[in-house]
Amino acid sequence: MNIGFIGAGHMGSAMIEGLLKAQIVAPEHLFVKGGSSGTAEVLQQKLGFNLIKDYSAFKECQVIFIATGAKIVLDILKEAASFMSENTILISVATGHTVADAKEILGNEIYVVHAIPNTPVSVNEGMIGAAFDPDMPNAVKDEALRVLSSLGKVEEVNESILGTFGTVAGCSPAFVDIFMEALADGAVMEGMSRNLAYEVIAQMMLGSAKLAIETKKHPGELKDGVTSPGGSTIKGVAALEKNGFRYAVIDAIKQANQ
Ligand SMILES: NC(=O)c1ccc[n+]([C@@H]2O[C@H](COP(=O)([O-])OP(=O)(O)OC[C@H]3O[C@@H](n4cnc5c(N)ncnc54)[C@H](OP(=O)(O)O)[C@@H]3O)[C@@H](O)[C@H]2O)c1
Repeated sequence: MNIGFIGAGHMGSAMIEGLLKAQIVAPEHLFVKGGSSGTAEVLQQKLGFNLIKDYSAFKECQVIFIATGAKIVLDILKEAASFMSENTILISVATGHTVADAKEILGNEIYVVHAIPNTPVSVNEGMIGAAFDPDMPNAVKDEALRVLSSLGKVEEVNESILGTFGTVAGCSPAFVDIFMEALADGAVMEGMSRNLAYEVIAQMMLGSAKLAIETKKHPGELKDGVTSPGGSTIKGVAALEKNGFRYAVIDAIKQANQ
């Protein structure tokens, strides 16, 4: 399979790394068009894909991703449309447009997926929300799902919820990173080395996430399992609540989703 890619910034490069790691495409079958800053060139040196300057290679691509800034997506699709062959799957990870907007430009011969991934796609542990072209035959949808699933878990969602999905799955890694850094600051204050703290915290988060996924237990039940009467954990929980932790998180999602 040949895959085309437009945009190799933060999200584009994370997806490119994930696709290559999953071996869903080999570097010689991946055709990437970057912008003007040289970011794509640096990534090409590391990963060895084909760096392209125009869209002509897209004629031979079965799947094309677009991961540029939201404002320019539709203009780029206008430029690239004539280079896409019939039945190509276009996967846009950009916000600010709909499947219908893209189809209006590309026509009915191209199948459109609007997907919102997050940066853990680079290690194939992404969370991807995907809204599919309603005209997409099942076999084409299965192919799109095969490619996207190589990057992590895919949840099919109504396009109207994709923005909130992007906030929860796409912005929250930054919130979690701040939480991890704050936990490490606390650990350092109590005498632990920073390197050990980051190692311990990352594994603790991985384990907590796995426990939630595998047991399907309510987060409150999992929390209750760690808090013994009069113990240290419940004192920490009370300190978090006193400092407005829960509301701070709710407000972060609300503000990010504006
Ligand atoms: N970052 C996330 O976690 C995340 C999550 C979900 C969705 N998204 C969506 O993904 C899209 C990209 O986000 P990002 O964070 O990756 O932004 P970004 O780092 O700014 O990347 C955008 C890339 O597009 C490139 N570009 C601009 N014009 C181009 C053109 N004509 N042809 C090819 N490439 C071109 C830019 O290249 P130069 O800089 O070299 O010009 C840049 O590397 C956005 O629409 C965003 O909403 C991002």
